Amino acid sequence: MAVLDVPELALVALVGVSGSGKSTFARRHFAPSQVLSSDAFRAMVADDENDQSASADAFDALHYVAGKRLRAGRLTVVDATNLQPHARAALVRVAREHDVLPVAIVLDVPEALAWARTEARADRTFGKQVLARMSRDLRRTYAQLAREGFRKVHVLRGVDEIDTAQIRFERLF
Ligand code: GTP
Ligand code: MG
Repeated sequence: MAVLDVPELALVALVGVSGSGKSTFARRHFAPSQVLSSDAFRAMVADDENDQSASADAFDALHYVAGKRLRAGRLTVVDATNLQPHARAALVRVAREHDVLPVAIVLDVPEALAWARTEARADRTFGKQVLARMSRDLRRTYAQLAREGFRKVHVLRGVDEIDTAQIRFERLF
């Protein structure tokens, strides 16, 4: 069983393709108010959680709220794919601005499983090619993550490891 050490005050970036189980993982381990999801912020700014044209505004708002939370000393989880270096860099920046440790948790499931889950969802309509691109981005992400400034990078591979993982919150002082 994987035990993931996470500082009690951290900015936790979930990283994974669509259908890897990020939102499920976030619900299981964190309070709803601790989780800032890109879907929720797209819905807030554009009335549609799938409106990709709203992403820039959605992430602006998400980063702003993350900053407010971190300033108040509140652990914050970012539920977004976080597969692009610039997306992760923005999170590292927000964390650093508030002297908070950025931590990444990667959820890595077989592409076929992620696709089967995505296909079964009424609220996801993108095609297989989009998921294939995300999988390529994830493979690239491994080489990049180590030098992006994350204090810790936890990788969970496969459904079993994801399902049984425990989070251990580390006291900072
Ligand atoms: P995006 O929001 O599209 O990026 O996906 P996500 O990574 O947040 O995945 P999500 O947690 O929404 O899971 C996708 C689908 O897979 C949902 O229908 C979940 O119910 C299902 N799912 C997630 N984790 C598990 C799991 O551990 N077991 C099973 N059986 N289903 C899961
Ligand atoms: Mg999700």
